[in-house]
Amino acid sequence: MDFNINPFTLFDSDWSLLTAGDMDSFNSMTVSWGSLGTLWGKPVATVYVKPARYTHGFMEDSDYFTLGFFDEKYRPALMLMGTKSGRDTDKPAASGLTPVPVQKAVTYIEAHTTLLCRKLYRQDLDLSSVPPEAMLHYRTEAPHTVYIGEVVDIIKK
Ligand SMILES: Cc1cc2nc3c(=O)[nH]c(=O)nc-3n(C[C@H](O)[C@H](O)[C@H](O)COP(=O)(O)O)c2cc1C
Repeated sequence: MDFNINPFTLFDSDWSLLTAGDMDSFNSMTVSWGSLGTLWGKPVATVYVKPARYTHGFMEDSDYFTLGFFDEKYRPALMLMGTKSGRDTDKPAASGLTPVPVQKAVTYIEAHTTLLCRKLYRQDLDLSSVPPEAMLHYRTEAPHTVYIGEVVDIIKK
């Protein structure tokens, strides 16, 4: 598996589209917090999803999730995916992105690269261990759940 990226811009400034569920029922949201690395001898992707997100329930219920990476021209689509909720918006239709199955999971035709991840681990962030400078993220909403997935495939367009 080959994926040459800058780990410090891949999520933070390039953004990624996280999708959980299958073609019958799925949801996607933009994420800019995440990382790629190694855990338990496996290649892994880590993402952080607040329980307030509709996607959270799909992450809880799914064994797999995908991370899609897009060219710059899809920035408005990713902005929509990160500002509207699947609870009340058909986000694929509104964004113009086209969902496609990848094994039992879902990604988008327009993604130049998709990581297919098998959920290995989840844990809610413990607010007592969050540094003071990060507490501003949790004034009104419950803290993120951390999901770590084994990267089992990398699909390139
Ligand atoms: C650029 C960007 C990055 C984001 N990164 C995250 C993230 O890493 N974790 C998170 O919980 N929410 C993040 N969000 C917020 C969700 O994408 C947003 O709340 C979205 O509307 C949730 O959709 P849903 O309710 O359909 O799941 C981000 C939003 C934007 C615009």
